[in-house]
Amino acid sequence: MSNFLDDVWRGLSTSPKQLDSRYFYDETGDEIFQEIMACPEYYLTNCELEIFSDQSGKLAEDLLADLHDFDVVELGAGDCTKSIYLLRALLERKALFTYYPIDISAHVISQLSIDLPAKLPGLGMQGLNGDHFEMLEKLRKISQKPKLVLFLGSSIGNLPIADAPGFYKKMKEYLAPGDLVLTGFDLKKEPAIILAAYNDKAGITRRFNLNLLTRINRELGADFDITQFAHKPAYNEQTGSCESYLESLNEQQVHIEAKGDVSFKAGERIRMEVSQKYTVPQTDEIAANAGFRPVRKYYDTRQWFMDALWRC
Ligand code: AVJ
Repeated sequence: MSNFLDDVWRGLSTSPKQLDSRYFYDETGDEIFQEIMACPEYYLTNCELEIFSDQSGKLAEDLLADLHDFDVVELGAGDCTKSIYLLRALLERKALFTYYPIDISAHVISQLSIDLPAKLPGLGMQGLNGDHFEMLEKLRKISQKPKLVLFLGSSIGNLPIADAPGFYKKMKEYLAPGDLVLTGFDLKKEPAIILAAYNDKAGITRRFNLNLLTRINRELGADFDITQFAHKPAYNEQTGSCESYLESLNEQQVHIEAKGDVSFKAGERIRMEVSQKYTVPQTDEIAANAGFRPVRKYYDTRQWFMDALWRC
């Protein structure tokens, strides 16, 4: 298990400096991310919502051609805004399944356990609160049924593309041949559209990034002056990697209580997050490298986003 203090210290001691975007999601971070998803520039959520609201019937039928008496596992379930369409379509078709939402936030899981049974009468579910792979391990002991794993929202994009096959190989350790995985991939498109999604006019994404410094101040006894850092997203059209940086406006020192000082040169940046954008062939290649076979692809009308169904 990695630990917040050590990860932060290691990230700020390496060159170039970096922080792990997993740590964005404290209580305030969760709230700001909700604001991002609702802001006009952040197209990803609306694209995937369109796929689920319009094509869940088709998706359910594709799944039921393969799976009977199965588990639907969702990594990072959040508030299920998208997956609820699929769950409803499965229930309407009298599918025999249990829903296992996994989320790192205890609050999310307790809320889902209240909300979902009310919204979807007849749904069998059990929430799992914790790390994705630890909860998949736990689930292996609870149920040996065939599985559909949902990994939506382009969360996979937070991994550098070279690490994506390794992630799915690890996921495979918890799956059996014939199990299915549905991943949301954000596709390459006009660079200005992508950059705007990570540089919204209202400054929500800026607050989202700075909030991690505030969290480090509060939880690790540090003294970042957040007025001395500028939010700078950058999209590399060739690699498809969109990266968010915080750039030090001046030469400055930041003290971290249990560790020591970190020096910044004027203009020095901390890499905060990677949000990878893909071509469709790249996603097929990830599948092949990890030992999955692409089964079907679902797109929004603008083809900005894709949910890809793979078979293990
Ligand atoms: C949740 C990882 C998909 O990278 O688009 C949104 C997080 N960061 N705005 C993304 C995020 C800045 C988001 N993911």
